[in-house]
Amino acid sequence: MKVGFLQLRPKFGAIRSNVRSARSLLRNVSDATIVLPELFNTGYLFRSKDELKKLAESVTTGYTVAEMKKLAKKKNLNLIFGIAEKKARKYYNTAVFITSAGKVITYQKTHLFDREKLFFTPGTKGYAVHVVDGCKLGIMVCFDWHFPEVARVLALKGAQVICHPSNLILPFGLDAMRTRAIENRVFTVTANRIGTEKRANVSLTFTGNSQVVAPNGDILTSAGERSESLKIVEVDATEADNKSLTANNDIFKDRKVSLYKPILSKTTG
Ligand code: ACM
Repeated sequence: MKVGFLQLRPKFGAIRSNVRSARSLLRNVSDATIVLPELFNTGYLFRSKDELKKLAESVTTGYTVAEMKKLAKKKNLNLIFGIAEKKARKYYNTAVFITSAGKVITYQKTHLFDREKLFFTPGTKGYAVHVVDGCKLGIMVCFDWHFPEVARVLALKGAQVICHPSNLILPFGLDAMRTRAIENRVFTVTANRIGTEKRANVSLTFTGNSQVVAPNGDILTSAGERSESLKIVEVDATEADNKSLTANNDIFKDRKVSLYKPILSKTTG
C-alpha cells in the first residue's frame, strides 16, 4: 500500500483556507492512505470554550468532512485527519477517517493534553482496527503516544499500520512513536504540524519532523521542522503480522500477561 503524511502549518481559525490548502497540496496524489495533523482545519490553541464552539463542526454535516470526502472519492484516497468535533452538545478532539469508498469513521482522542482538558470531552469508545483495501489500520491522536497501552491494544487487535494525527509539542514524542513501532512491530505514520501559535498568553511551537516508521524501527521517510511537506512510501503492511524478533522471540507470545495485572488498575504503589 502507499501510505504517507501531509505535514501542515494551519492558521488558527481559518478553516476554509486550511482545508483549501490541504486539498491543493494533495491535488497530485491518488490511490494512497494519507494522514494529516490533529486539528488541521482549526489550529490548536483555543482561548475559550466559546471559541471552540464557534469552530467545531459536525462530522455528518460540517464543511471540512464534506470537502475531504469529495477529495477522497475523486482521488481514491483514504484520509485520516483531525478536527474539532461538535456532537450532541459535546466537543471532541476527533480523528476522522474517510475511506476511498466514502465510509466515515471517527476516533475521539482519549488522552487530552494540558489545556485541551478545559474544553474537550475525552473519547470513551476505545481503540478499533479498520480493514481498508486489505490493510488493518488503527488510529490514535497525538498525546495518546504517552500511553503505550493505546498502541499495544491496537496492535493486539491486529493493526498493521497506526495512523497518528498530531500537534506534537514535547520534544520526545517522535522518538516515543518509533518505540511504539518497535515494541509492537507495526508501521506508524505520524503527521505532525509545524509553526508557533501565540494565544491566551500561551505560546506553543510544534515540532514537525513527521515520520513513517517500519516495524523494525527504520524511519522510512520523514519531514523537517520548517516546511509543509508531503511524503509517501510504499509498504507491505503484512510485514507487521510477523511478531518474531529473533529465532527464539515472538514479542506477543513472549508477553507475561499474568504479571501485568497492575496495568489494569488505576491505583499505584
Ligand atoms: C497534543 O496532544 N496535541 C500535545
